[in-house]
Amino acid sequence: MNIPLELVSVQTDDDLSRVRKAVSTCASSLSFDVMSRTRLVTAASELARNMLKYGGGGVVQIEKLRESSRVGLRATFEDQGPGMADTEKALTDGFSSGRGLGLGLGGARRLVDEFLLDSQPGRGTKVSIATWVRNR
Ligand SMILES: Nc1ncnc2c1ncn2[C@@H]1O[C@H](COP(=O)(O)OP(=O)(O)O)[C@@H](O)[C@H]1O
Ligand SMILES: [Mg+2]
Repeated sequence: MNIPLELVSVQTDDDLSRVRKAVSTCASSLSFDVMSRTRLVTAASELARNMLKYGGGGVVQIEKLRESSRVGLRATFEDQGPGMADTEKALTDGFSSGRGLGLGLGGARRLVDEFLLDSQPGRGTKVSIATWVRNR
């Protein structure tokens, strides 16, 4: 079962800190440890920045994931920008079509449990990340 927690619109630089705050607050409310929370916030920050820089802005949806034996957090980043012709290339460390370091997408993927990138030229971009709460 997915339970919607927050919806954040990203149109300006100021919205990036709103995304970080929202992800951090939601992760805390689900009892994530500090390390997992930091990883989620860092990944979300990179993806929201990409959405703004390359996608012309978009929306971030944060959901609680609930399965029979585990709880998780998913954040989905969706924009209606130009999309990407080659998602594998975009995920390659060091590739940037702008003047970036090219570590955002690959880095975000390494920081979370689940990572989905769906993009086509002219069809916008959707990136979804999820991490499960670790049982202590
Ligand atoms: N939302 C997006 N819409 C279109 N292209 C994107 C989007 N996000 C990432 N990209 C493409 O993927 C490349 C790699 O992204 P990233 O790893 O974050 O590196 P950087 O932001 O430093 O360029 C970007 O340079 C851009 O070409
Ligand atoms: Mg980036």
